[in-house]
Amino acid sequence: MIRIKNLWKKYGSVDVLKGLDLEVKDGEILVILGRSGVGKSVLLRHIIGIEKPDRGSIEVDGVMISDLKKNEIYSAVRNMGMLFQGSALFDSMNIGDNTAFYLEQHGDPATGKPFPPEVIREKVAQALTMVGLEGVEKKMPSDLSGGMRKRAGLARLIVYRPSILLYDEPTTGLDPITAQQINELVVKTQTELKGTSIVVTHDINSALYIADRMALHRDGRIVYVAEPKTFMSLDDPIIQFMRESLTHRPSKENP
Ligand SMILES: Nc1ncnc2c1ncn2[C@@H]1O[C@H](COP(=O)(O)OP(=O)(O)OP(=O)(O)O)[C@@H](O)[C@H]1O
Ligand SMILES: [Mg+2]
Repeated sequence: MIRIKNLWKKYGSVDVLKGLDLEVKDGEILVILGRSGVGKSVLLRHIIGIEKPDRGSIEVDGVMISDLKKNEIYSAVRNMGMLFQGSALFDSMNIGDNTAFYLEQHGDPATGKPFPPEVIREKVAQALTMVGLEGVEKKMPSDLSGGMRKRAGLARLIVYRPSILLYDEPTTGLDPITAQQINELVVKTQTELKGTSIVVTHDINSALYIADRMALHRDGRIVYVAEPKTFMSLDDPIIQFMRESLTHRPSKENP
């Protein structure tokens, strides 16, 4: 269970999070929608402990992440993984090493011991195959297209099998077929790991495919959280726009 209460965060003189409250239930996929710049990525970075709030609290499985010191956060968030917006691979490491990063850093969560190299190689190969990138271990991030880098970022996340998965725009910039494969992977990973996922996206089709519940982030707060059917029928201009973008697809003949 993730419980966020009255979260405030300011950058310079700009209030980005303004008393944000949110609860994420164990085992659900919660999708967060909202306009560009409202603070969705900032919220995810707080949950995984990279940013500290000015005020408010974040509790994950009974641990107050927001109260921890830097060195304590590292072990507290070991069971969390995040796919960063733009994938954020390490440019100087090949894709195999990038994918192995968390496995090597954290070792086997069950025993606390390092994984043997051949186990790491096998897990990396499996994860890359799962995202449709079989055999690219030796390539560098700069050798891949944007969509391929995004999928490699996803492989790096799922290979570690965290129980809390944060995805920042997993399908943005991908072609519709690849986007749908990613949607299926998000759902499959969730089912397999029996984890909890938070997915930030602009892609309403993707949101409806994966979400157990949907949330709208606006003006520094989460203004609605509801199951997809209820969420999509809410009387709100942004949600109205989402409804229209589902049913009314502009075309050259019918703009
Ligand atoms: N480290 C930082 N320093 C200063 N300002 C920041 C920092 N991180 C985020 N911001 C500001 O906080 C606001 C919210 O940023 P954020 O990246 O969370 O938006 P977002 O909702 O994820 O948008 P998008 O949908 O475009 O990804 C923006 O105005 C951004 O400039
Ligand atoms: Mg963002």
